[in-house]
Amino acid sequence: MKLSSLFLVASAGSLAQTLRFTNLDFHNITVDTPFNITWTDANGPVKLTLLKGSSPAYFENMGVIASGLTDSFYVWTPNNTLLRDIYDIQFEDSTGVPIYSFMFELVLAPVTAAATTTTTAATTSTTYATTWIWPTYV
Ligand SMILES: *[C@@H]1O[C@H](CO)[C@@H](O)[C@H](O)[C@H]1NC(C)=O
Ligand SMILES: *[C@@H]1O[C@H](CO)[C@@H](O)[C@H](O)[C@H]1NC(C)=O
Ligand SMILES: *[C@@H]1O[C@H](CO)[C@@H](O)[C@H](O)[C@H]1NC(C)=O
Repeated sequence: MKLSSLFLVASAGSLAQTLRFTNLDFHNITVDTPFNITWTDANGPVKLTLLKGSSPAYFENMGVIASGLTDSFYVWTPNNTLLRDIYDIQFEDSTGVPIYSFMFELVLAPVTAAATTTTTAATTSTTYATTWIWPTYV
């Protein structure tokens, strides 16, 4: 019987390491303030992508933060070209299986793009004439 060797093969498969981020706190990621993104157990170089949105189904790709990373950290300084919103960082190593950070709100990010001019909507007051119609009984 070779039951013992079968068991060893089966358990070896579950020991594979998978990429995971090691930041416990994604609060207070602030514009113009460096944030040290850290991870471990990567297989090959890591690519970090910034996603916008509060639901994976509606993530908007905001571009690659950095790629080809062979260290297990990257110091990211978000700038004010990013608007105040909910963001998420996607980590991807050579396995191509992405993992996602906790969602975070970018602190001190502008609410609207700097170049936007606001136009004041003209206020028109509409008046309604009220007509009373008395019911007529035949
Ligand atoms: C976030 O930053 C503010 C202001 O610097 C500080 O008061 C607060 O304790 C910080 N929160 C966390 C979770 O680091
Ligand atoms: C970022 O974190 C890594 C891993 O903990 C550490 O080696 C590195 O010195 C940190 N860099 C900065 C700028 O804090
Ligand atoms: C601001 O951040 C964006 C996205 O990370 C980047 O593409 C852009 O080059 C940065 N701009 C400046 C002025 O650093």
